[in-house]
Amino acid sequence: MVLSGKRILLIISGGIAAYKSLDLIRRLRERGASVRPIMTAGAQQFITPLAVGAVAADHVFTDLFSREDEQDVGHIRLARDCDLVLIAPATADLLAKMANGLADDLASTALLATDRPVLVAPAMNPKMWAHPATRRNVETLRKDGIRFVGPMAGEMAESGEAGLGRMAEPLDIVAAAEAVLDSGLKPLLGRKAVVTSGPTHEPIDPVRYIANRSSGRQGHAIAAALSTLGAEVTLVSGPVSIPDPPGVAVVHVERAEEMRDAVLAALPCDIAVMVAAVADWRVASAADQKIKKHPGESIPTLALTENPDILKTVGHHSLRPKLVVGFAAETQDVEANAKLKLERKGADIIVANDVSAETGIMGGARNSVKVISHEGTEQWPDLAKEEVAVRLAALIADRFSSP
Ligand code: CTP
Repeated sequence: MVLSGKRILLIISGGIAAYKSLDLIRRLRERGASVRPIMTAGAQQFITPLAVGAVAADHVFTDLFSREDEQDVGHIRLARDCDLVLIAPATADLLAKMANGLADDLASTALLATDRPVLVAPAMNPKMWAHPATRRNVETLRKDGIRFVGPMAGEMAESGEAGLGRMAEPLDIVAAAEAVLDSGLKPLLGRKAVVTSGPTHEPIDPVRYIANRSSGRQGHAIAAALSTLGAEVTLVSGPVSIPDPPGVAVVHVERAEEMRDAVLAALPCDIAVMVAAVADWRVASAADQKIKKHPGESIPTLALTENPDILKTVGHHSLRPKLVVGFAAETQDVEANAKLKLERKGADIIVANDVSAETGIMGGARNSVKVISHEGTEQWPDLAKEEVAVRLAALIADRFSSP
């Protein structure tokens, strides 16, 4: 499933294992991937572009300086218009070029130009694999984030020598490609997140409460989007009428104090996104019994007291998550007020929205936000709340992938 619809740039370099690349292409295509092959000059000594092109059902690229190919796709686009670059087999020579950034043919140039994940299936004589130069190159490439599958132990086709050097079997390469693509799809795998969502209800008496117009749509969508990227999410939700998002642990609360306790119970974690419209005040002492009307007597006044600021508590906590994101609901001076909240609440990012009644944002389906961080401000277009959530989750994942 992981490979379905994925575009793989397959670089075949020169080695006897190149014959297995034909089977590899077939296996990848069976799983729904498309394969665009590049062959080095060496590879063409072992198998023909005709055979590779027939199995891949695509044009085979062989020449850096081919006018036709350059006009058609161009080596830079070739290197980027794919989800994964796979090198199978990868010779010692190609590994050496990669480790040193050489670009003297189409394969090495594409490898230097790509910004996609690269998976390498080396194949060479065991002495070449064990050579200190190759060891150094492999170490450098691993540090550069290049992934390896194999080589395996076994007898060499040409010399009968035994040792590590055989290319991994096509099905093992397929599994490794799936694992690389899967980890790319789930960049937050292994991260824990806590998200608050919805309003809080602050009781006045057993039947009445103070509330606000928050629907929980934005917070719930963010919890779902973080979970889709692999995070383990605890969603602390105030009273809402929308369903729990799938794959997320939901703690249902009513009051701000309960929400704070549930959030603190979810620490330590890596990410906190505080989306809830927490009531700033609660009734100082809520009545145990329904407050009755007494004709002729004065109308009751509600004495309010301040609620805990959950975002601020988390932003300054000894177990502060690595990334703390808050929202800012403003009706005026949106950016300036949001910047103040960034500082005051100890957040890394504030997502600010204008909740003036005429925007229809609070309780509505769409959102138009400014994303404010210490690096600057970004205005996002008017988007569905789900789309805002997906973008925000991607931005969060970026913060975790960059060193
Ligand atoms: N927030 C919170 N706990 C509170 C109040 C707010 O965690 N008691 C969080 C919200 O979830 C949001 C951010 O703080 O992420 C900003 O909320 P907002 O209502 O815009 O700000 P306030 O702190 O309430 O300030 P003001 O009402 O003065 O604008």
